[in-house]
Amino acid sequence: MSLPWSPPALSPSASAPQALTPSARVAAAVRHAVASGLLGESSPVAGFIDTEGVRASVAALHEAFPGVPAVLHTFAAKASSLVPVLRLLARCGMGCEVASPGELRLALDAGFAPSNIVLDSPAKTRDEIRRALAVGVAINADNLDEVDRIASLRPSDAVSAIGLRVNPQVGGGSIGAMSTATATSKFGVALRDPGAREQVVKTFAAHPWLTRLHAHVGSQGCSLELIAAGIAETYRLAEEINDAVGRRQITGLDIGGGLPVNFADDEVRPSFAAYAGALRAAVPGLFDGRYELVTEFGRSLLAKNGFIGALVEYTKDAGGRRIALTHAGAQTATRTVFMPEAWPLRVGAFDAEGRPKDAPALVQDIAGPCCFAGDVVAHARELPELRAGDFVVLYDTGAYYFSTPWSYNSLPRPAVYGFDVTATAGQEEPVVRFAPVRDAQSLDSVSAESGLAHADALLGLHD
Ligand SMILES: Cc1ncc(COP(=O)(O)O)c(C=O)c1O
Repeated sequence: MSLPWSPPALSPSASAPQALTPSARVAAAVRHAVASGLLGESSPVAGFIDTEGVRASVAALHEAFPGVPAVLHTFAAKASSLVPVLRLLARCGMGCEVASPGELRLALDAGFAPSNIVLDSPAKTRDEIRRALAVGVAINADNLDEVDRIASLRPSDAVSAIGLRVNPQVGGGSIGAMSTATATSKFGVALRDPGAREQVVKTFAAHPWLTRLHAHVGSQGCSLELIAAGIAETYRLAEEINDAVGRRQITGLDIGGGLPVNFADDEVRPSFAAYAGALRAAVPGLFDGRYELVTEFGRSLLAKNGFIGALVEYTKDAGGRRIALTHAGAQTATRTVFMPEAWPLRVGAFDAEGRPKDAPALVQDIAGPCCFAGDVVAHARELPELRAGDFVVLYDTGAYYFSTPWSYNSLPRPAVYGFDVTATAGQEEPVVRFAPVRDAQSLDSVSAESGLAHADALLGLHD
């Protein structure tokens, strides 16, 4: 039975064309995705990206650094490693931070100019460094041995800006795995370790082509104060090095990304403006134009601009608990399944026609399709009672979720679509347009990626 459909809520500033709240945009997209078959029995899970939301997030980032003479905002490709998304971001004036040969390839395919790409891979091979130098992208060395390696490979006419990543060791945030400025973090040169600072100064003195310092203090779970403290420490080091070498050798500071995302509701908090404010307060000199700035935001640009939609295949009861068996589990919400306290997601309940459900609330587990007991994206969540054929939405999953699926159980990568919603005064329903971003993976592709070409390879080993 279909329930009565009420038009999505309009935000207070509505005028023709109407501005919809983010949740209302999602609701419109779900309804149209179901109506057009992008979500349904033959495509039971898909990711969706709100392209207008992405543009607005990029604009908010740029607006947060007005008057800063030289700033390159790069997008951390790991947060949404999808070529059409990267191309949209390039078109919006972003650069790209990459951390593997694959991400570098995607950034180049997406059309970023090499001078707007920064390579931060944690364990760069010689080949990777050679390629980065040949292409001309900026490189941040992770450690002093890597600086030596770059020195040995760098042609004298290289155009790549080269920096060194430091770990200001200002401490961690609420999620250990996301905290990169702890005493024992694997990233960067641990600045507070005995002798490390002096070594860094010496290294800069020995290599005049080392012109940047890089610090990424951490990601989700790190406070603005912690991030600002780490950047302040990095800024002080840059000043110290420039004093020690007697010239402005360090011309650029790459301050990383890491702005945390609010997963609890629609509000964007903290904002990029709040972040810039915290930096201004902690490091006033950062914005005076003496240093070219590079940022590397990922989650804060994309998370709230994407969602996962999934079909409820069955429901059942076990031990007094209602369980909805859906097609969104660890293969597309990996972090949430394995670390539910650190990565809780809002779940929305939609009926078989993709309209917000209006059924009485019930405590339910929202489980996924993976064959292990822990594959549950929300435990004991109170939601309108779900039935087979309904849909669930996992909100705020535009970064690090459907774009980086896990191939457990040989589950295919879900399709991804971009969407745009236009609501006009007087029109009962908004107009939703979709564009393909990534096709759902075929079973042929699953088999090919699982060694089909070598199917007989092991049979002959013991003959
Ligand atoms: C070096 C570096 N820069 C930027 C980012 C992006 O962080 P976030 O998505 O939290 O903004 C990361 C995330 O792992 C990172 O390791």
